[in-house]
Amino acid sequence: MKDLFEKIKSNPGPLGKWADVAEGYYIFPKLEGELANRMMFNGKEVICWSINNYLGLANHPDVRKVDSDATDEYGLAYPMGARMMSGNSDNHYKLERELADFVKKEAAVLVNFGYQGIMSAIDAMLDRKDVVVYDSESHACIVDGVRLHQGQRFAYEHNNMERLEQNLVRAVANAEKTGGAILVITEGVFGMRGDQGKLKEVVALKKKYPFRLLVDDAHGFGTLGATGAGAGEEQGVQDEIDIYFSTFAKSMGSIGAFLAGDKEIMRFLMYNMRSQMFAKSLAMPYVIGNIKRLEMLRTQPEHKAKLWENVNALQGGLKDAGFDIGNTNSCVTPVYLQGDEVYAMALVNDLRENYGIFCSIVVYPVIPKGMILLRLIPTASHTMEDISETIAAFIDIRGKLESGYYATVNLESIAIKQ
Ligand SMILES: Cc1ncc(COP(=O)(O)O)c(C=O)c1O
Repeated sequence: MKDLFEKIKSNPGPLGKWADVAEGYYIFPKLEGELANRMMFNGKEVICWSINNYLGLANHPDVRKVDSDATDEYGLAYPMGARMMSGNSDNHYKLERELADFVKKEAAVLVNFGYQGIMSAIDAMLDRKDVVVYDSESHACIVDGVRLHQGQRFAYEHNNMERLEQNLVRAVANAEKTGGAILVITEGVFGMRGDQGKLKEVVALKKKYPFRLLVDDAHGFGTLGATGAGAGEEQGVQDEIDIYFSTFAKSMGSIGAFLAGDKEIMRFLMYNMRSQMFAKSLAMPYVIGNIKRLEMLRTQPEHKAKLWENVNALQGGLKDAGFDIGNTNSCVTPVYLQGDEVYAMALVNDLRENYGIFCSIVVYPVIPKGMILLRLIPTASHTMEDISETIAAFIDIRGKLESGYYATVNLESIAIKQ
């Protein structure tokens, strides 16, 4: 038998084991200053490509004013208690109505955090007789929601419609035996590679198989579709999404999230999602701040237009310079480089220290061995200068990677710089 704490100390986890050499720089880095295209990191200005402030609203003066006025008026506590018990307000309902209208659904329900909210929605809707079928590259919150499910669950190969159909055949056979129902879950935009979920194709399968569809559109909300209603609107199938989900953590530059769909289903969620029934409701400044942000999404299309001007310039410029950006069809911009992942730390250090560029880096096992993925999130607040400087820097680091330069860097010397 083991002591629990001894076990934990002997295995701090895949990232935790690097804490002593990497915390504050490579892991848990501290970006300082105003949330913007350029921020301070480790005492230097960097072009910041790591925050999902797609529309540049996080630090917009009008938004900041509404946030601070609401905080002055209500403080951070009001309303107290779970929404069902004592934490409800007219503004919570108002935000829900406006969100439902925005994504063209009958009703919406707020959740405090997207992660717990979607987990809890999956948990509330399914019982052990039901079957869940989900994309294998789904966000951790979907995977964890599915883990709570006690019935059958089938993951299908990412965006592979043949595999989805095979799993639907299995799901139908299973549900017929148990008398259960089927839920399919995918995403509007997959946040790592930037490819949209094949919603049109998924929806077409509804003609052959009886299932309901839940779409996590965290990266599509506000960025895709003619009105910003997301990937479903972009692909012309918003009506066929039975339950639409987005967080406020990206385009809205805030906290909180929501689900939207038929009135009765939203009411069911409101009365049955354990993460909301047993947790304090969203504080008023967030609710009022999100009403303001949504109004700006609705009435100021210039933010989305500027975002796409930047996305097109960045993605077009990278492609012209011969970079592989995979099959993104969203704002998320991955750059795939050929190179041993052991050089990733040297490369990221070089980008930050010598080129003033801050972006996320992804290596094996998330992507195949021998590849390095640099992930850029363009926003409406970036400038053409940010884009051209970044592309020029990427051309340089690609040259260094190919010439073997990073193999010569002493990793001890760059282990940590706080
Ligand atoms: C696809 C996706 N779903 C859900 C979430 C979780 O949302 P929240 O940050 O509101 O918990 C995120 C991250 O923010 C996400 O990228």
